[in-house]
Amino acid sequence: MRNGAIAVYGATGYTGTLVAHELRRRGLDCVLAGRDAGKLAGLADQLGGQVRTHAVELEDRDGLRHLLGGCKVVIDCAGPFMRYGEPIARAAVETGCHYLDTTGEQSYVQLLHRRFDDAARAAEVAVVPAMGFDYVPGDLIAHLAAQGLEPLRELTIAYSTRDVTPTRGTTRTAMEQARDGGEVYEDGDWRPAPLRARRIRFRFPEPLGWQPVMRYPSGEVAIVPRHVRTRRLTTLMGVETLVGHRAAAPLVPMLMPAFTLALRTPLERLVHAAVDRLPEGPPEDQRRAARFTVAVVAAGEDGRTRSGLVHGADPYGLTATTTVEGAARMLADDFKAAGVLAPASAFDARDFLDALAPAGVTYALDPA
Ligand SMILES: NC(=O)c1ccc[n+]([C@@H]2O[C@H](COP(=O)([O-])OP(=O)(O)OC[C@H]3O[C@@H](n4cnc5c(N)ncnc54)[C@H](OP(=O)(O)O)[C@@H]3O)[C@@H](O)[C@H]2O)c1
Repeated sequence: MRNGAIAVYGATGYTGTLVAHELRRRGLDCVLAGRDAGKLAGLADQLGGQVRTHAVELEDRDGLRHLLGGCKVVIDCAGPFMRYGEPIARAAVETGCHYLDTTGEQSYVQLLHRRFDDAARAAEVAVVPAMGFDYVPGDLIAHLAAQGLEPLRELTIAYSTRDVTPTRGTTRTAMEQARDGGEVYEDGDWRPAPLRARRIRFRFPEPLGWQPVMRYPSGEVAIVPRHVRTRRLTTLMGVETLVGHRAAAPLVPMLMPAFTLALRTPLERLVHAAVDRLPEGPPEDQRRAARFTVAVVAAGEDGRTRSGLVHGADPYGLTATTTVEGAARMLADDFKAAGVLAPASAFDARDFLDALAPAGVTYALDPA
């Protein structure tokens, strides 16, 4: 029997656990799901009991259909998604269950579009990847900044973060993405990203000011051009975010291509073994102390520009807030979106950003 329950697959991971707590805090009916019954029972206890759990392996197609057939929405937190995501997305589309996830992987977003868009439309199911910190603030503010200026000559999205400690799962996923190389969006189309990393400077609003940044093939490349008409999308990441320390910035352009190539050799095994020994993720106080700024500049073909900004804290905590907010909206009777969608296509961008204010998110848009 389908009810209004929200399933969380990968509930026992670092992010899944934050999502489970947020669902509980909001009093939403949920099912904690994953591969390990013992770990799921432990998490249910942590949440005060009275929470349903459902252990099912990703290889168990019927089992996944059974789980999602009884739920209205699934939040998938089991990554890397290129490895583990597809079975959940398939079961969601097959059973008519809305899907969202925490992926930041560009290649996985493209895969969902290729494999599931038609089927999701036919089934009237919304499949909304990248509903975490990657890339809800950036996708929504980009959508708002572009309004009334399209077609754009260029859309730039730049990230600056302070004191973000990535989880083991994020580090593992980032290594796999770095090896794959990814795509950029130029001349109105997706193209393989160049191996050579280019370091440039981007001017964030004060007090950040000019910062060294690198162009990198972010997940927004797969998401934003599907709802903003732009000739080029430039995605920039503060060098400190990429390597942990500003002093290392001059070395990054030299080291990144070598690192990417090394990940395509047997050395990759050593890197993964080192990642496996990392702690699961930052403790709560450290997690909450992290800060981020997302700055966008939309430049119209006609010469007009508009900039937008989002500030906030605690990207992992925010990922729980945005995924659960999205899932709660999907439960509403008037939620009718279908297909593989960007956050800004599934939800009203301004309304969604406004809903993040209690989580400490602020945003601003210049007039065009
Ligand atoms: N975009 C963003 O802003 C953002 C934010 C947070 C996380 N993420 C992404 O979300 C993913 C999870 O991150 P995390 O830090 O939570 O990682 P994590 O702590 O390592 O959690 C990974 C989860 O995946 C499950 N899993 C792993 N292998 C599996 C398999 N073979 N079958 C079934 N389940 C499996 C794990 O189950 P067990 O507990 O049983 O091991 C665990 O629940 C990563 O890809 C990360 O990049 C993105």
